[in-house]
Amino acid sequence: MSRFLFLDATTREPGHTGNSETLARHAAASLPAAAEQRWLKLAELDLPPFVDLRHTAGSYPPPTGDLKTLLDATLAATDLVFVSPVYWFSVPSPLKTYLDHWSAWLRVPGVDFKAAMAGKRLWVIATSGSREKAQPMFDSYRLCAEFLAMEFRPPLWGKGGAPGAVLADTEALAAAQSFFAA
Ligand SMILES: Cc1cc2nc3c(=O)[nH]c(=O)nc-3n(C[C@H](O)[C@H](O)[C@H](O)COP(=O)(O)O)c2cc1C
Repeated sequence: MSRFLFLDATTREPGHTGNSETLARHAAASLPAAAEQRWLKLAELDLPPFVDLRHTAGSYPPPTGDLKTLLDATLAATDLVFVSPVYWFSVPSPLKTYLDHWSAWLRVPGVDFKAAMAGKRLWVIATSGSREKAQPMFDSYRLCAEFLAMEFRPPLWGKGGAPGAVLADTEALAAAQSFFAA
């Protein structure tokens, strides 16, 4: 059975739905009912800053709190979906912090993170002012997926801006309908 984990990286205030989430909800509406969906808003989780212990302690204790929630959700997913605005041509900070913690999870005794990630699919649903400006971020995500032998899917992009702006991007909304079927 497929288990989709949607990680929303918007930094909009609680109660405000971003364009990336709006586009992702359109795409998720076409998922089969049997596919599990879990949605987490990264900015609402208490994620500590990543500390590089690779060449001192060399390993990390099992995470606790929201970090544990995220690790467990990541391991349980068959499909990770990055719901990601473009910030400064790049990865938004909540998602970047999450990715940095992958470097810790690779070194938690008893968690074979690299083996567990291999073969999971990585999907990206993004909005920004222009598609061209999103490319460096897409390339980063693709390289992260390749590093862990994940299957990287061609991203879905829509034109964002103020909340609701993506609803005017009819091409993106149409592409969303068949995104997960592709
Ligand atoms: C800090 C910040 C940086 C941004 N940088 C870019 C950028 O480099 N290129 C771009 O096209 N849009 C940029 N944008 C616009 C957002 O990508 C766009 O509004 C997006 O739809 C926001 O996603 P959301 O509605 O899901 O939060 C930026 C917005 C913010 C807040």
